[in-house]
Amino acid sequence: MIDLLLTCPPGLEDVVELEAKEKLPDAHVSKRHMGVRGHVLLHLERDECIAKVLSMRSIHHVMRYIASFSIERSKDALNTIYRNILALDLNLDEGVRFRVTSERLGRHEFTSIDVQRIAGKAIVDRFSSKVDLEHYDVEVRVDVVGEQCIVGVALTRESLHKRGYRVFDHPAALKASIAYAMLRLAEPRAGNILVDPMCGSGTIPIEAALAMPTLNLELYGFDVNTIYIDGAKANAESAGVGRLIKFMCYDCRMLDRIVTPDRIVTNPPYGIRMEPSIGLRNLYMGFAKASYRAMVDGGRIVVITLKHGMMKSMLTSSGFNIIKSIPVMHGDLWTHIIVGEKR
Ligand SMILES: C[S@@+](CC[C@H](N)C(=O)[O-])C[C@H]1O[C@@H](n2cnc3c(N)ncnc32)[C@H](O)[C@@H]1O
Repeated sequence: MIDLLLTCPPGLEDVVELEAKEKLPDAHVSKRHMGVRGHVLLHLERDECIAKVLSMRSIHHVMRYIASFSIERSKDALNTIYRNILALDLNLDEGVRFRVTSERLGRHEFTSIDVQRIAGKAIVDRFSSKVDLEHYDVEVRVDVVGEQCIVGVALTRESLHKRGYRVFDHPAALKASIAYAMLRLAEPRAGNILVDPMCGSGTIPIEAALAMPTLNLELYGFDVNTIYIDGAKANAESAGVGRLIKFMCYDCRMLDRIVTPDRIVTNPPYGIRMEPSIGLRNLYMGFAKASYRAMVDGGRIVVITLKHGMMKSMLTSSGFNIIKSIPVMHGDLWTHIIVGEKR
């Protein structure tokens, strides 16, 4: 019997639950553990299921869950953390080399460095362990979210959203975990034509090829920038799916002249680096109209953007029916994943 705490991009807990129930039908899933976004608790009856958990595509880190307790927002919290961690059974061998990492969300009178320091002191005092930030055997996670402190032992070192194929980096690349969630929300059927008309380095079509091999999707990735198209091809080759995706240099506003998609899944520019209002407005409007013209009846469109109000109004005025808009944290930004249908 083991309790695992999974982390994911805040807002995607429902997708994590969906994937967990498919891969581990016997597991008990508790979304937003202790009300905390981005945390999902999984109760497993058998330890051997951990390999299946580590193969999940919607999550970032996996921890052996130890405990949660309430803390203050003032500096008194540091004493509370020390006392609680001193009393916890972390099951560490004496003399083990360890490090503490901490993510902190919310307003506090202390930093995550303070949490790491005080939690580290408690572990040294209790287990005579040695702190070693680089060559550690065990990573203890002490996350602080609002008035909750959550303690676990990390089972992952690198975040699982790093799939390991990336030989070309796009300056605004999407996390593969979010690409996976968008693809799940698109609900593609076997043999569907699925297009990312602003594909950048190819994260979305590559994730579709890797995560949904049995659907035999016809996959396309377009971008106006040839450098990105070359980069996307290199990434797809490196991921072993180069033959499964057609990457081409096109403007997304010409989509209806190129393909007839069943599913469009895309991550357009957010307007942070490009000229804000007029450029983005024209792009979103041109994209929404061309997508509606191109798409088959009953088709689905899934878009992630920071400018969700603008995108929803463009999609609606082009004829799409919006069925969902899910707030999701992408990096430091609260974006929305919008799901629309052509009826
Ligand atoms: C946020 S990035 C996509 C990043 C991508 N999801 C990835 O993971 O690498 C947006 C992309 O839209 C492309 N783009 C901007 N205007 C476009 C247009 N009119 N037609 C097609 N692509 C366009 C940009 O070149 C850029 O690569």
